[in-house]
Amino acid sequence: MKKIALAFALLIGFQYSAFATEGMWIPSLIDMFYSDMKTYGLKLKASDIYATNKSSLKDAIVQFNGGCTAEIVSDQGLLLTNHHCGFSAIQTHSTLEKNYLRDGFWAKNHAEEIPCPWMYVTFVKEIRDVTKEVMKGVTDAMAKADRMAIIAKNIAELESKQKTNADISAKIKPFNQGNQYFMLVTEDFRDIRLVGTPPDAIGKYGGDTDNWVWPRHTGDFSVFRIYANKDNQPAAHSDDNKPFKPLHFFPVSTKDRKEGDFTMVYGFPGSTDQHYSSGKLKFYVDQERPSRIKMRTMTMDVMKPAMNESEEIRLKYASKQASIANAWKKWIGQVGGLKALNAVDKKLVWEKEYNEKAASKPEWKEKYGGIIDAMNNLQAENQDIEFARAMFIEYFFYGPEFFRFAMGFNNLANSGESYEALDKQGKIEAEIKRLSDAAASFFKNYDLALDQKIFMAQTPVYLESVDEKLLPEGYKENWEKEAAAVYGESILLNPEKLKAFLADFNKDKCAQLLKDPALVLASKLYNLYINEINPSYQQFGFAEELLLQTYVEGILTMFPNKRTWADANSTLRITYGKIEGSAPHDGMKYTHFTTIDGIMQKHDPDNPDFELTDRFIELYNKKDFGNYTQDGKLWVCFTASNHTTGGNSGSPVIDANGNLIGINFDRSWESTMSDFMFDESRCRNIAVDMRYVLWCIDKYGGAKHLIDEMKLVK
Ligand code: ARG
Ligand code: GLU
Repeated sequence: MKKIALAFALLIGFQYSAFATEGMWIPSLIDMFYSDMKTYGLKLKASDIYATNKSSLKDAIVQFNGGCTAEIVSDQGLLLTNHHCGFSAIQTHSTLEKNYLRDGFWAKNHAEEIPCPWMYVTFVKEIRDVTKEVMKGVTDAMAKADRMAIIAKNIAELESKQKTNADISAKIKPFNQGNQYFMLVTEDFRDIRLVGTPPDAIGKYGGDTDNWVWPRHTGDFSVFRIYANKDNQPAAHSDDNKPFKPLHFFPVSTKDRKEGDFTMVYGFPGSTDQHYSSGKLKFYVDQERPSRIKMRTMTMDVMKPAMNESEEIRLKYASKQASIANAWKKWIGQVGGLKALNAVDKKLVWEKEYNEKAASKPEWKEKYGGIIDAMNNLQAENQDIEFARAMFIEYFFYGPEFFRFAMGFNNLANSGESYEALDKQGKIEAEIKRLSDAAASFFKNYDLALDQKIFMAQTPVYLESVDEKLLPEGYKENWEKEAAAVYGESILLNPEKLKAFLADFNKDKCAQLLKDPALVLASKLYNLYINEINPSYQQFGFAEELLLQTYVEGILTMFPNKRTWADANSTLRITYGKIEGSAPHDGMKYTHFTTIDGIMQKHDPDNPDFELTDRFIELYNKKDFGNYTQDGKLWVCFTASNHTTGGNSGSPVIDANGNLIGINFDRSWESTMSDFMFDESRCRNIAVDMRYVLWCIDKYGGAKHLIDEMKLVK
């Protein structure tokens, strides 16, 4: 442990500017990267960015409902995030009469703001390195299992000591593959209200067509507010609650921007995998990603025409299609990017360097000399299992929907022997109620013929990719017959029959359920996964984790001058860079910003992704852009060289003086490989410019009172 501590101490004093924009930094370790941020143009003091004894930028940033990021822009808890992060709230509150998705929504006063009782936001109060305390009692000589047990016990004790009240939580998470532990003290607020949103034609403009793509013209923002009780403390929703008074809120900058300006993104990136071995990376590029992409392509190739043909199917499948397409498109970008970067070769070169370094000292050689080979060997030995698992996930969880739906009936079907006892406890009734509710919401968005098409399209790909011994017996020969039975005869897939079947359920019907072709097929596949794939995969994952831990320890120990950063793990991070365009393809250059003119150029009334409202066109033609222009142009989006990933959606993009200039919402297609390997020249995050956000609120939405609530700086 001492060695690692020393490696970190060295890191803290070190300055290095190449690859300065790579990395997602831990705010409490700001001293480690502060001087480099200054060379990029930062004007703030370190304690303006992160402090625990006074207010700082971090006090204006929250994790939004456990996933995205959001930021406070007024002294009354006004919150900005992405439209796609607020989407479920907006959709939930939309009806045919009050169609906020289509028309947008702007609360005229506090009373009109709409409660979203299932939502919460999380503030980070403190991030503390607790590696020493967590490692107390752990020695190098200990068996791994004993080590883990002590660590788990220490963590539990430390967390419970810190937790002082119900809204405060203290969580200890491993960083740097378990070489470091940090405690995150957080506070949740639970009265969150929808304040405003532009219509889809602004907030989702470009849709799936433009998703992950630059040039971009999406006004991807929505507005919420945090409420607190009369003492400004967290409380469940109540009419007596008041707008929350934050310790800090972001002033919004309407100043001109230019390429090279300092930018910082401060938010909650979800996960990255920078330490994959060359073997694993090669597996991802050559096999894992392409096969998953193919499975989704099969789905989308039948889904899209069906959606185009029928408005009913379009509505039923819009959100499913969007979620399948989002990862699908990202993966295609990742594979292309990793290939363009020769990522596997680069990894091999680095692995050679690592091994040579390890060979230079006997104690390193013993500890780290064999690690790279071990990682690559472990990968080679377990590749098939990792692949089978990935394919199962694509097939079972993202493929035909009947799998998941039918599996829901498994417990009831198998309740046979304990049926009477469960019945007496009221548990059967409760289960039937749960299943009836599930069925109602399932059939609302289900089209049997389309599901069957998806099944018919995906299954041959699944069969040809997965090892025969990981398939149900006879499936290769009989799958078409089984499909005919599932889609033709299953009671579970017939809403009327199912309703009647559940209405007077009794013990004898369990046997009938057990024979239902949909449940039979779903559980055959699922059980095979649980018994044959998952246990080996778990073991593999555990072994891999241990190797990675030593591997990263080796980097920290042997390369103390290397700028290392801990993989994203849904904790608060800072990434910095500058406003910057890129030129990822020969003969093409991406400018660093787009304007409202581009929205009009893309306008296509026949394509739902590029529809505009009459009001928008009217305002555009009047050129009523208020004070929000630069050289007469209204910027819509800009790109910057900040290292971001999923979870950074909604994150504030902050200028050198700590003012808000944009809301992060995407990366360019050519840079999505940054989850594995960052490349300075091509990796760009995409933000919606705050001046466009202000224009949408003020001129389009007519909600000037919200602008007045903010602090604009020029
Ligand atoms: N690509 C962005 C992200 O990963 C935006 C996704 C939402 N937009 C969409 N068209 N599906 O979340
Ligand atoms: N849209 C992503 C999100 O929802 C951010 C894009 C990315 O992966 O960088 O977090």
